[in-house]
Amino acid sequence: MAPTVYLVSGSSRGIGLGLVTKLAERDNTIVFAGCRSPGTSPLLQSLAVQQPTNLHIIQLTAADKAGNDAAVAHLVVKSLEVTPESMREHYEVNTIGPLVLFQSSFSLLSASTPHPKYIIISSFMGSNSFGTRVPTNQLPYGASKAAVNWVASKLHYDHPPFVVVPIHPGAVATDGAAVAVKQEPFLADYPLISIERSAQGVLKVVDEAERGEEASALRSYDGGSFPW
Ligand SMILES: NC(=O)c1ccc[n+]([C@@H]2O[C@H](COP(=O)([O-])OP(=O)(O)OC[C@H]3O[C@@H](n4cnc5c(N)ncnc54)[C@H](OP(=O)(O)O)[C@@H]3O)[C@@H](O)[C@H]2O)c1
Repeated sequence: MAPTVYLVSGSSRGIGLGLVTKLAERDNTIVFAGCRSPGTSPLLQSLAVQQPTNLHIIQLTAADKAGNDAAVAHLVVKSLEVTPESMREHYEVNTIGPLVLFQSSFSLLSASTPHPKYIIISSFMGSNSFGTRVPTNQLPYGASKAAVNWVASKLHYDHPPFVVVPIHPGAVATDGAAVAVKQEPFLADYPLISIERSAQGVLKVVDEAERGEEASALRSYDGGSFPW
């Protein structure tokens, strides 16, 4: 049987690294671990040494790095102080990045299986009905995740063989979460799950995802879903 092939972007650390770690343990599996600076992640490098046949590191930048760094620096900002630049930076990373990667991988995915899966790591902050009520100052982040949820549904309807699913990975103890807590200290009271727990849950949802008539809801790592 031909191996199942995965391409994971942002795999140098955080949830992306958790996903490639779990996938590389699977039989008959090839994982391409995409990261924008392959030399800067010792954890990913040592994983590739342990799994030389089924894990391959590739250089992959989904959106402009300077824009991304700027977006992280302005993760938390009051709605009245949000600048147009901050909005653009978040869209660059969270919305345009996944769209461009879909476009780049489209022909390979189309040639792979009858129903290729394209999974977007979104956030419950992008749920109109849920994320807008969370009392954090994350308007640009939430709006860019809401936009990528729309992109996921549109790709689903435009490309009938594909299974396109946006997933909330949980509130996870990563560098990204630490930046948010530093900028908004009350978030420290919010319970975080481990990267391993998140990766395990996300992969279960991915494994079970099927093409349906309707676009997938915003799925959650724990098997549930969020309203749009
Ligand atoms: N952590 C949470 O609680 C949480 C909750 C909901 C949703 N999410 C979502 O989950 C995803 C991963 O978050 P995380 O917490 O794991 O973040 P993280 O620990 O900050 O890691 C971010 C990863 O993305 C990579 N990356 C950033 N910009 C990139 C670009 N332009 N091109 C290629 N790679 C890029 C980083 O690479 P470098 O090492 O090169 O910087 C790193 O591997 C994000 O979409 C985030 O919004 C996270």
